[in-house]
Parts: sequence; structure tokens; C-alpha cells
Amino acid sequence: MKKTIWIIFIAFCLPAYSLAGHLEPFRDVPIPEYNPQTPEKVELGKKLFFDRRLSGDGTTNCGTCHDPELAYSDGLEISLHYPTTRNWRNSPTLVNVAFHKYQFHDGRAATLEDQALFPMMSAFELNQNLEYLEEEIRSVPEYVEEFTKVFGDGDTTKERIAMAIAAFERTLISCDAPLDRFLQGEADALSPDALKGYEIFTGKGKCTDCHFGPNLADDKFHALQVPENPEHLTDPRIAATRRFVAKVYHFEEYRTLDEDPGRYLITKDPKDWKAFKTPTLREIAKTAPYMHNGIFATLDEVIDFFNTGCGEGNTVLKPLQLTAEEKEQLKVFLVEGLAGAPRDFTYPKIP
Ligand code: HEC
Ligand code: HEC
Repeated sequence: MKKTIWIIFIAFCLPAYSLAGHLEPFRDVPIPEYNPQTPEKVELGKKLFFDRRLSGDGTTNCGTCHDPELAYSDGLEISLHYPTTRNWRNSPTLVNVAFHKYQFHDGRAATLEDQALFPMMSAFELNQNLEYLEEEIRSVPEYVEEFTKVFGDGDTTKERIAMAIAAFERTLISCDAPLDRFLQGEADALSPDALKGYEIFTGKGKCTDCHFGPNLADDKFHALQVPENPEHLTDPRIAATRRFVAKVYHFEEYRTLDEDPGRYLITKDPKDWKAFKTPTLREIAKTAPYMHNGIFATLDEVIDFFNTGCGEGNTVLKPLQLTAEEKEQLKVFLVEGLAGAPRDFTYPKIP
């Protein structure tokens, strides 16, 4: 009897709690059963992440656009690209990426294992042929030895390459930020201004409507009507990338598409037109420029955008009427409150 009551309690109360938009302190990232973490697998994934063999012309690797110094983003409005091509979106941070229910700004990949294969194959990112990559990795004795240790034999398949990279990515975490310590009861973990900013974030600013949970993200997509990056109209290489991706995702009028359709590209649901995934805000001070197209250079610009009720025609948000002082306090909270404790990082030795 008692057990049944507990089950009913958990079934009804937990979802309500997680939908309520509460901030939560960091907790361990979820590890899928099909790809358990081992120290050897993480180390192998780290080597592959930084190995230039992953790119067609041997000049770049995942770390080129996901730089540990910049919380695994690349500091550019629109990310780096394969020579002669151009990318079309901003490189997101990879900290706490293991929490995401969807990967990419439009959520077109569900797991880190699936996601990792995209940039390797992508014509405008690493532009590598995966069948070839399997053989290239197999030609390196150290790798064959490590694959044998990790997976039981030396078969260097693309799926295993992706599994090792995903295991490494699950170790990229940002935690022990002042916000975590504050939520765990350390009353003075936030400075007085950051505390005021926290109150705005969770109150008048309504930020926790979307930025909540341990990773400050709701795993949803919203059409805030973020302005287009003008480069989308002026750079023919970006237009080529946009048409290419749209064609691959069966967007019928891909030839005349002159803006980023966001989540609509995947669902074809009109409510998803120009909707983008709510990103984590952890390490936000290190990951400028902001938004899916890097249109805002500073946090001041982002805060102004939200304060004026977001972009023209959006039906999601209304103006906030924050004073200059409140905007500043909100920024202090974002910068100080969400910076995790420093973590050591050493680059791997590539075989
Ligand atoms: C040339 C630059 C570039 C390279 C190289 C690159 N990425 Fe990315 N990465 C991006 C951009 C840009 C996005 C966002 C693309 C989008 O949303 O359409 C992204 C998105 C991601 C995401 C999704 C994160 C999120 O918040 O949704 C993950 C995970 C990721 N990359 C991992 C990798 C891995 C692993 C590699 C190497 C195999 C890699 N990236 C190589 C630029 C790059
Ligand atoms: C309706 C949901 C929603 C609310 C409310 C909301 N955000 Fe966001 N936020 C988003 C989405 C979606 C994006 C990504 C938009 C894009 O990429 O084009 C975003 C992006 C951001 C970014 C840029 C992150 C990055 O890495 O580029 C910051 C900073 C931010 N929000 C802070 C705030 C603050 C501060 C508030 C409260 C004043 C707030 N947000 C309220 C959904 C929301």
C-alpha cells in the first residue's frame, strides 16, 4: 500500500516539479547504457577530438571550432569552416552538452554519438569521408591498440569513433559555480549585485521560464525572432551552405530560401519557423558572440534584446521594463554566478 502511494507521488509530482522552471544545482550528467564511460574510452575520445585526421584536408579537428579556452566555442559570429566554404551558424559551447535532449541549434541530432558523425561528414566543416577515416585510423598502430583495449578488438569503425568522442564530451562539464553553491545553501556564494541579478533572473526578468534545471535550459525551441545576421544575405558561400542543408532536409523551396528556418527545417511545423534551441547559460562570459548566428557581440546586447521583448513579430515574450541598474545586476549574475570552478585541461598527445 505504502509503495503504491509513493509511486503515485513520484509519477505526479516529479514532472510537475521539473516543469515549474526552478534552477537546480549541477548534478552528474546522464550516461547512456549503450555507451558506458571508461577512463580509456574517454582518453581515446579526447585524442580523436583533437586529431586533424578527422578532416579531409588534415588541417582541422573538433577542437578548432570547440576550443577549451573558450568553453569549447570558437569566439566567432559564424563558426569556422572547411577551406573555400563557409559555415552558417555560431559554434555552441560543449560544456554540459551531455544534458541536452537535442543536439544542434535546431535539434536535428538526438544523441552525442549521432551528432559526432555530422561535423566529420559535413562538406563545410571537417569534410571527411567516413569509410576512408576508418581505414586512416586503422593505419595507426597506437589507435588499433587503444580500440582493442576499449572495445575488445581493433575494429576502428565510425560508430566506435563517435562513441569514444561522445564519452569524452560527457566529461566536459561546468559545475561548482557560485549559483550551485548558493542553491546548496551557501548564503553568500553570490556577491550582492549577483544576488540582485539572480532575483531578476528568477523574478521580473522571467528568464527561468526557459532557462531552468541544472543546465539552465528547457530542452525546447522558441521563435524569439532573433535578427538575421546580415552576412547571410551578403556572403554567397553562406547562402550555398544554407541551400545545401535545406535541400538535405527536404525543404522544397531551398533554392530561394534566404533566411535560417531553425527548427522548422526538421519538423516542417509552422510554429517552429525560426525557432531555436534554448542554450545553456553556463560559462556564458566565455562564449560570445551570442545566439545561433552570433548576432549579439555582448551580454549587454542580449539583455537589451530580452528587455525590449525580443525581435519584431515574436509572440513569445513581452518587454520587461528593467532599469539600467537591473540590467547591470542581471549581467553580473550571468558573468559571475554561472562561471564554474576552474578545471585543469591538458591536450592529448596525438599518435
Ligand atoms: C568547422 C567548425 C566546427 C567543427 C570542426 C566542429 N564543430 Fe561542432 N558545431 C559547430 C557549429 C557551427 C555547430 C552548430 C551547428 C548547428 O546547430 O547547425 C556545432 C554543434 C555541435 C554540437 C551540438 C551542441 C549543442 O549545443 O547543440 C556538438 C555536440 C558538437 N558540435 C560537437 C562536435 C564534434 C564532436 C566535432 C568533431 C567531430 C565538431 N563538433 C566539429 C562547429 C564545428
Ligand atoms: C521563451 C524562452 C526564453 C526566455 C524567457 C529567455 N530565454 Fe534566453 N534564450 C532562449 C533561446 C531560444 C535562446 C537562443 C536563441 C538563438 O539561438 O537564436 C536564448 C539565448 C540566450 C542567451 C545567449 C546564449 C548563447 O550562448 O548564445 C542568453 C545570454 C540568454 N538567452 C539569457 C536570457 C536572459 C538573461 C533571460 C531573461 C531576461 C532569458 N534569456 C529569457 C530562450 C529564452
